Amino acid sequence: MTGVRLEQLTKIYPTGVKAVDNLTVAVAPGEFVAIVGPSGCGKTTTLRMIAGLETPTAGSVYFGSRRMNDVPPQQRGVGLVFQHHAVFPTMSVYENVAYGLRVRRVPEHEVRRRVMEHLDLVGLGDLAQRTPAQLSGGQLQRVALARALAIQPSVLLLDEPLSSLDAKLRASIRTEIKKLQRQLGITTIYVTHDQEEALSLADRVGVMHAGVLEQVGPPEAIYRAPATRFVASFVGEGTLLEGHLVSARDGLAVVQAGPLRLEVPRPAGAAPLQPGPVWLCVRPEAVQLAAESEGAPVWEGAVEHLEFLGSMVRGELRVHGLSAPLLFLCPARAESSLATGQRVRFSIDPAAVSAGQDA
Ligand SMILES: Nc1ncnc2c1ncn2[C@@H]1O[C@H](COP(=O)(O)OP(=O)(O)OP(=O)(O)O)[C@@H](O)[C@H]1O
Ligand SMILES: [Mg+2]
Repeated sequence: MTGVRLEQLTKIYPTGVKAVDNLTVAVAPGEFVAIVGPSGCGKTTTLRMIAGLETPTAGSVYFGSRRMNDVPPQQRGVGLVFQHHAVFPTMSVYENVAYGLRVRRVPEHEVRRRVMEHLDLVGLGDLAQRTPAQLSGGQLQRVALARALAIQPSVLLLDEPLSSLDAKLRASIRTEIKKLQRQLGITTIYVTHDQEEALSLADRVGVMHAGVLEQVGPPEAIYRAPATRFVASFVGEGTLLEGHLVSARDGLAVVQAGPLRLEVPRPAGAAPLQPGPVWLCVRPEAVQLAAESEGAPVWEGAVEHLEFLGSMVRGELRVHGLSAPLLFLCPARAESSLATGQRVRFSIDPAAVSAGQDA
């Protein structure tokens, strides 16, 4: 197994666009890292540099201890799955998966064995003779996956492989991809603009914004302790509030936002907050309507917006003096009827609040 290390990787296109800005990250052998960020933040450019399809303006790509910058794409041992043009339309499923092996001059009996092995792996063993036009979107993406895996790559790169699929199919194929990755133990970098997909799939998530990798960490750490305002707003639901620091001590910051004074936990190793403005990220699970919150300080707000989600209700609380309405979630019990405009009391669980300062 091979790890991947990107060191101070930068890409400036001839147009002057700085698509990737001094990006450094190490992916351990067998690890699954997802890179997530909005459209245009540099995800595809990063993957293409790893694959050798794009030349870095500066910085290095390492596979293990080997610097790959001068190694041509077909010799890098990467499997690639892209969103578009995922399969060759005129070739059968079998021929699609065989393609990369033929290019590598693998003997025909070995081609046959590996194609069938990988089609079975993605559950398409019976469809080898079909053409892409005779397959569903989900099946097509599985062909693309089998084709990428059949060359037994040391690194698997996936660029938005599920974005053309409907929500249900996306969820089921992403579970399959995750199982396959575990089973094969292949070092995987998965790029998506869908933060939920990234959180649910990856061992670690990297959040990218305007070419810069702003934070890398396990999904829970990214969600619970976003390092920047952008990460806080892009990953997970919640409310961003403007406040200021009241006091700080080891592992804790007292912050004030409008009427709310909160003792916010600080992640281990984080630099202490400085006197001045802070942003607060209040996750919906932090907002507890009063019945559930005996003993804690209680504030009052007006229900502004309600959405029925099935098992849950999502709503917003307008609180006098706060810079934004607070997003909350509560179980949709028939007897607990919330109504728009209703005044409710609430408390906040500071464990689901994080704070930070702009650089
Ligand atoms: N070949 C190119 N020449 C010039 N600029 C480019 C080229 N490819 C991409 N860019 C620009 O570089 C930036 C990053 O593009 P990139 O395709 O890496 O983003 P992305 O994160 O993959 O976006 P998306 O989620 O929309 O796929 C964008 O501003 C884009 O317009
Ligand atoms: Mg892209």
